[in-house]
Amino acid sequence: MSRPLRIINIVGARPNLPKIAPLMREMQRHPHRIEPILVHTGQHYDEGLSDIFFRQMGIPTPHYNLEVGSGSHAAQTAEVLKRVEPVLLERQPDLVLVVGDVNSTIAVSLAAAKLGIPVAHVEAGLRSFDRSMPEEINRLLTDALADYLFVTEEDAIEHLLKEGRPRSSIFFVGNVMIDSLRHFLPMAQQSTIGDQLALKNSNGWHRFAVLTLHRPSNVDDTAKLGDLLGAIEAIAAQVPVIFPVHPRTQQRLAQAGIRTHPHLKLIPPTGYLDFLCLLSKATLALTDSGGIQEETTALGVPCLTLRENTERPITISQGTNQLIGTSPAKIVAAASEILAGKGKPGRIPPLWDGHAAERIVKILLEIPCKNA
Ligand code: UD1
Repeated sequence: MSRPLRIINIVGARPNLPKIAPLMREMQRHPHRIEPILVHTGQHYDEGLSDIFFRQMGIPTPHYNLEVGSGSHAAQTAEVLKRVEPVLLERQPDLVLVVGDVNSTIAVSLAAAKLGIPVAHVEAGLRSFDRSMPEEINRLLTDALADYLFVTEEDAIEHLLKEGRPRSSIFFVGNVMIDSLRHFLPMAQQSTIGDQLALKNSNGWHRFAVLTLHRPSNVDDTAKLGDLLGAIEAIAAQVPVIFPVHPRTQQRLAQAGIRTHPHLKLIPPTGYLDFLCLLSKATLALTDSGGIQEETTALGVPCLTLRENTERPITISQGTNQLIGTSPAKIVAAASEILAGKGKPGRIPPLWDGHAAERIVKILLEIPCKNA
């Protein structure tokens, strides 16, 4: 009998964690056929951005933590490249699996490709066509290097074909982040966050909105951040707005001395289960995150995306998402429509059914082992 396929799985930043959780779970169901190794680059390192996700989602303790920490794009990417190479050389995997579009995704893909190790990219082919977004550069380069391209929506197939990737390397498998959402939603409903934030009473949940903001293009310029929060305050005058604040945004708010409306409730980053609970009960979400556009579509919750573009167009063509931009007047007008009950209805995109990880692992099981 041949030895199990050795797969090194990579996580670095918070959004990678709900994507890797179902993949690790599925790989562990095949102990005789797959040997999964987990590497955390340490791009995110805080309890609230990393550790709590491991605990809540039952992600195994990583075999390696590269502890690269924060830094400029070049410094962070270079540290991952440098520190992951010895791990790849030591473990000699048959495949490296990366998810998403963060600096760790491209850095590890590059290190693996230079060593001739096949790379699988989960969430391939998404394009915002905005190269000022660091994630767009990471997506383009990772997809240029990867040998197995697992896509969440059909537009991604076209993008990859136009970039010259062979059709035989592209697999439409669905969305692993939605696997996590479906798996953990019943557990998330047990969260007490609604009571803690006084969002519910014995009759049930009140109306409220959830806000997240962390894109450099929205938060690094304090004038722009101030304008956005001005719009949010007009919404907070109508319903409470819960704002879990990302560390990048927290730094900018503190530097600029920005003060906010009392109904705009700033809280530290929440764990996965509390956030999923909030999102599932919200009347409205406002965000510049990629993942939350997808999660709201899966939950049927109206979402306003405070960006000029999205790499996830299916959330607009089929889901509940609206690309609203960053003009304060437009944001307030769109939110008021939703609060008046005129939100955009949506449907669940194809294959966002909770079984994406199973499809991916089934394909991986066909890969031959080196020197088997
Ligand atoms: C990174 C990803 C982004 C993802 C986001 C989710 C890239 C290019 N960006 O952006 O795609 O949407 O994560 O959170 O990979 N910090 C902490 N604790 C931590 C990590 C960071 O306090 O655990 C602080 C640091 O001061 C750092 C700042 O947050 O300078 C920003 O972190 P960084 O990893 O550079 O980028 P993100 O904005 O988190």
